[in-house]
Amino acid sequence: MFSLAIFLAFCLCFVESQFPRVCTSDAAFRTKTCCPLWKDKSPCGSLSGRGKCRDWIDYTGRTLPMYNDDRLDWPRHYYDYTCECFGNYSGFDCGDCKYGYQGENCDRKKIIIRREIRELSPLEQKRYFSYLALAKTTKSQDYVILSTGDRHHRETYRFVDASLYDVFVWMHYYSMKPIMINNTFIPNLNFAHQGPVFPGWHRLNLLFLERQIQLMTRDEDFAIPYYDWRGDKNCSICTDELLGTNDDQGLLNPYSHFSFWKVIIVTCINLLFIA
Ligand SMILES: *[C@@H]1O[C@H](CO)[C@@H](O)[C@H](O)[C@H]1NC(C)=O
Ligand SMILES: *[C@@H]1O[C@H](CO)[C@@H](O)[C@H](O)[C@H]1NC(C)=O
Ligand SMILES: *[C@@H]1O[C@H](CO)[C@@H](O)[C@H](O)[C@H]1NC(C)=O
Repeated sequence: MFSLAIFLAFCLCFVESQFPRVCTSDAAFRTKTCCPLWKDKSPCGSLSGRGKCRDWIDYTGRTLPMYNDDRLDWPRHYYDYTCECFGNYSGFDCGDCKYGYQGENCDRKKIIIRREIRELSPLEQKRYFSYLALAKTTKSQDYVILSTGDRHHRETYRFVDASLYDVFVWMHYYSMKPIMINNTFIPNLNFAHQGPVFPGWHRLNLLFLERQIQLMTRDEDFAIPYYDWRGDKNCSICTDELLGTNDDQGLLNPYSHFSFWKVIIVTCINLLFIA
């Protein structure tokens, strides 16, 4: 889908990632704790039995000193304590439900219907693209992105706001950056691509976006459509009503939905937004 055609960017010296906004305070980093208070005023909703604040366990059971990449055993590099959610609860503060569950107590099964994009009615297609446009322009309340900083010195971290869509893009970018070994990024090696994790990881990434859009629009039944490309000789969804047509240079036609979307590009010094 279009979401796979996001962007590539390289940064050879700093760290970037997405964080729950409430876990970016000095106190959170000093105590290495990301256990936000839920509505019942207890960390991870523990008073309501939603979860608990626990010492992060190195589930891989191995230490890889040469891999000093901050993404290994995420988020261990930044936090020792994070929320562990029980049962059907989920989220960084256990305030949400696991995928497939809904309701205040997350005890109702949730089924959404994922449909082929060309089978949506014109009105449904329009709604889909307006949701995406809204996600692209709505600031995320829950997450900020770490745009730059030296991973070993928290006083250098600089967090910036990002839209719901850009947080989703950032997660993709952060996961697919080359792996760092002995302080050197190894090209062609990353955590999201070129391996068995590819389909599962991207599904999770898309489920994140889908949930963010459900929360933003309060349309709990919203489902990202899919594209069944079997038997399609050329890209029949590359029309201006759907993903957009290209001009001779390969640029998106200005009449298509995404032609004015700006892409986040990272350099070692700045976060730039370019057309
Ligand atoms: C999770 O939801 C299912 C389906 O509604 C329910 O049967 C189950 O009891 C829930 N699990 C917990 C631990 O609440
Ligand atoms: C990383 O550094 C260690 C110690 O200097 C060395 O033994 C190891 O071979 C290096 N690993 C790679 C992949 O370069
Ligand atoms: C796609 O293929 C069909 C025939 O299979 C053709 O009529 C159409 O012009 C093609 N579209 C593009 C954009 O190449």
